[in-house]
This record gives sequence, C-alpha cells and structure tokens, in this order.
Amino acid sequence: FYLFSCLLFIWTLPKQHFPSQNNNNLYDFVEVEEPSDGSILGRWCGSTTVPGKQISKGNQIRIRFVSDEYFSYEPGFCIHYSLLMPHHAEAASPTMLPPSTLPLELLNNAVAGFSTVEELIRFLEPDRWQLDLEDLYRPTWQVLGKAYIHGRKSKVVDLNLLKEEVRLYSCTPRNFSISLREELKRTDTIFWPLCLLVKRCGGNCACCQHNCNECQCVPTKVTKKYHEVLQLKPRIGLRGLHKSFTDVLLEHHEECDCVCKGNTEG
Ligand SMILES: *[C@@H]1O[C@H](CO)[C@@H](O)[C@H](O)[C@H]1NC(C)=O
Repeated sequence: FYLFSCLLFIWTLPKQHFPSQNNNNLYDFVEVEEPSDGSILGRWCGSTTVPGKQISKGNQIRIRFVSDEYFSYEPGFCIHYSLLMPHHAEAASPTMLPPSTLPLELLNNAVAGFSTVEELIRFLEPDRWQLDLEDLYRPTWQVLGKAYIHGRKSKVVDLNLLKEEVRLYSCTPRNFSISLREELKRTDTIFWPLCLLVKRCGGNCACCQHNCNECQCVPTKVTKKYHEVLQLKPRIGLRGLHKSFTDVLLEHHEECDCVCKGNTEG
C-alpha cells in the first residue's frame, strides 16, 4: 500500500548534440535514481531509445534532467507516470510482521481500504479474528462506545452501514441545473427552457481512501444524452423568430470518484 510509481516514457534532445550514444553521455541527459539506495535506474539521451517502465521501491523517485547551454533543440523530454497501489494482501506479506506493528500512518492507509468490519479485523488479527469479532459485538460495558450506552441499548452500532452511507452521499452524480447558452456556447439562439437538469459529480471528498491531503471529486464515467427543447432564432432579413424543436447534446456524469488533487490518472 505504499509503493508508488514511475516513468514509462522519456526522450531527450536530438542525438546530433551528443558526442556519443553510450551511457556516459555528459552534456544532455535524463537520469532516474532510486532514492532509497541511491542506485541509478538508468540514464538516457538521444531520441532513439525510449526507456521502459521504471518502478520505484518506495514512494519517491528522483528524476534529474541535465542540459548545457549549447544547441537547444526541441522536443525535450516527456514523462508518463502513474501511482501503483499494490493489493493489501501483498503489502502485509513481505515483512511477516503483524499489521499492528506498522507505523500509525501506514496502518491508517491500510485500514482505509477495507469495506467491512469483518475484513478489517481479519487483516489485523489473522489468527483470531473470529474471536475478536465476537468480543467486539458482545455487550460488555468496557468495549462499548457511547452510542450504545446513551440510547440504543438493544443494538450495537452497524459500522458497515455507516461506511456505506458515507460512500452513498460523498462525491456522487447529482442533479445540476445548467444554462444551455453557457453549456453549448450558443449566443446566436434562444432556448426554452433556458436551463436543463443534468447529472454531474458533486459532494465533498474527505480523502478517506487515499494517501494524500486533498481530494477532489471527478467523473469516471461520462455519457452524452439528447434533450429536446424549443429553439428561437432571428430570421435573417425578416421579421419575427424562427421557432422549432431541436435536440441538444449534454454531458452527464454517470459515475464519480475521489482522487488525490493534482493527479488526474487516479
Ligand atoms: C433528479 O431529477 C430527476 C428528475 O426530476 C428525478 O427523477 C431524480 O430522482 C432526481 N435525482 C436525485 C438524485 O435527486
């Protein structure tokens, strides 16, 4: 849950600027370093070789672009990167330490990924999770939260339901009214009605599932739908308006998701 990632594609200045095509190029290059052990994953120059995928060991990677002041040529270099979030099971296994020994930040990130109390307890206590779960729901004075003591004595609070409620109401497609003139950038015509209802992503993102400080709600599935409206257009050289029904094509957000701010690749 803590490995991030990498470069897929780089190219540097055209090769005529390089004295040689070997790896010791001195003047212009892009170099990728793994900061955890200082090893150089690669150094590239020229436009002939496109480096393959580079995956960092931790959540950092160092990219150094070195260029001198001579012969500046287009196009420079370009990086495509994406964040990797390995599955929880993989994350737990390499160390063989129980999850409860993880630093709190890491543990918090791991815990964020579970959707039910059962899965969570199973991850925390692989050997005795059933017992722990039973204990959790046994109405003894010490382990109960305030919600139980004040009021709903008959039933322990359903955490899975609370989590599901958050999912249902944060960052979801909602009814939005939009102005057709603004949306379609049509100033030559009048629509009636002037505004229509569309589905757009809305609601806040509290970053509950992500290892970042700020999240934003973005559409992950967009469809276009036709809407029939009345269109009024001035007749050129004539008095009166031309009236007709017309289909306008509008974007609807069908699905939405919270992603880290500044990262559009998810
Ligand atoms: C959005 O508006 C439509 C049309 O009035 C309505 O049927 C639908 O229930 C509304 N959806 C929500 C989530 O309010």
